[in-house]
Parts: sequence; structure tokens; C-alpha cells
Amino acid sequence: MHISNGYDPLTPKGSFYNELLEETQAIVEGQKNWVTNLANASAVIYHGLRSLQHFQEKPINWAGFYIIDKNDSNKLILGPFQGKVACTEIALGKGVCGTAAQLMQTQVIKDVHAFPGHIACDSASNSEIVVPMVLDGHVIGVLDIDCEKVEGFSEEDRVGLEAIVEVLIKSSEWNQ
Ligand code: SME
Repeated sequence: MHISNGYDPLTPKGSFYNELLEETQAIVEGQKNWVTNLANASAVIYHGLRSLQHFQEKPINWAGFYIIDKNDSNKLILGPFQGKVACTEIALGKGVCGTAAQLMQTQVIKDVHAFPGHIACDSASNSEIVVPMVLDGHVIGVLDIDCEKVEGFSEEDRVGLEAIVEVLIKSSEWNQ
């Protein structure tokens, strides 16, 4: 399996997500440690999306994970990511991440400035997508991606990223 950190900028979103899914399957093969898998997943997602023409003028500026705190299931804590320093804790129900985690429903936010309670980690962010990670009916974390572009994400991104999150959930052990 070819693992790249870049795609042809003109790759259509549908085929891009097919390739990104294969790449995700390749990086987790033979590896069950969730930190390891989410670290590499944030790299392939971040660099993959940034290489697309759609994101070249106003790029993806953050991609990573928040994980339910082992000691407090009402709180997300910062996990592996690519991008600038981010806030370390988010209460369930707060911000886009806490909302996605609480509702167990992907949030596609066209304009973060119009989202009540949005938590601004990087002032360059204008849109955001957050996909909850649900294992056996319980939320274990979220995948969060920020973009400098307003309306950076669409339904195609939601479908593509939900499939990637599914692979990550199944491939890793979460009780470590
Ligand atoms: N914007 C998020 C906070 C996390 S940062 O974007 C990395 C939110 O509102 O939950």
C-alpha cells in the first residue's frame, strides 16, 4: 500500500476519500495502540486535505482528536493532532466538539462565528467539521477539523470522514 502525504490537487472529493480510507486502513494495519493510530491518522487527514485545490487558498489549519477523559466522562481532552496548540479540555455539550460528542452526531459548521459557544483555538478558523467516535453506543472521542475557508466542508466530507472514523474505532484498543 502506498502511503503518501499528498494528493493530486485536482482529485475529486469522492475519489480522494476512497484513497484516504485505504491509506487509513494501511496505517492501522497490525497496530492496535490508539495513540499511535490517531497520531498517524491526523497526519494523513491533515496533509491529504491540505493538498486538495479546494483547500489551497484557505487551508485546513487543524486536524486531530479529542478523547473522553478516563477520569471524567463528561470531558474531552486533547489527543493526537496536526496544527497549532489547541485547548486541552472541552466539556461535553460545549463548543462544536462537545456538541458533536453529546449528540453523537456529526456537526458540519459552515461558519464557526455563527455557532453559539464555538471555542476559538485558532482565530484563522472559519469553518469546522466534528465527527463523533461512537463505540458500542458510547462516545469515546471526536475527530475535529478546522478550515480557514467559510463553508469549507460539505456532505461529501461528512460521509468520507465518518467512514474513516469507523475504521479507526474498529482498528484500535480503547481500554489502554
Ligand atoms: N473549535 C472547537 C475547539 C477545538 S479547536 O477547533 C482545535 C470547538 O468549538 O469545540
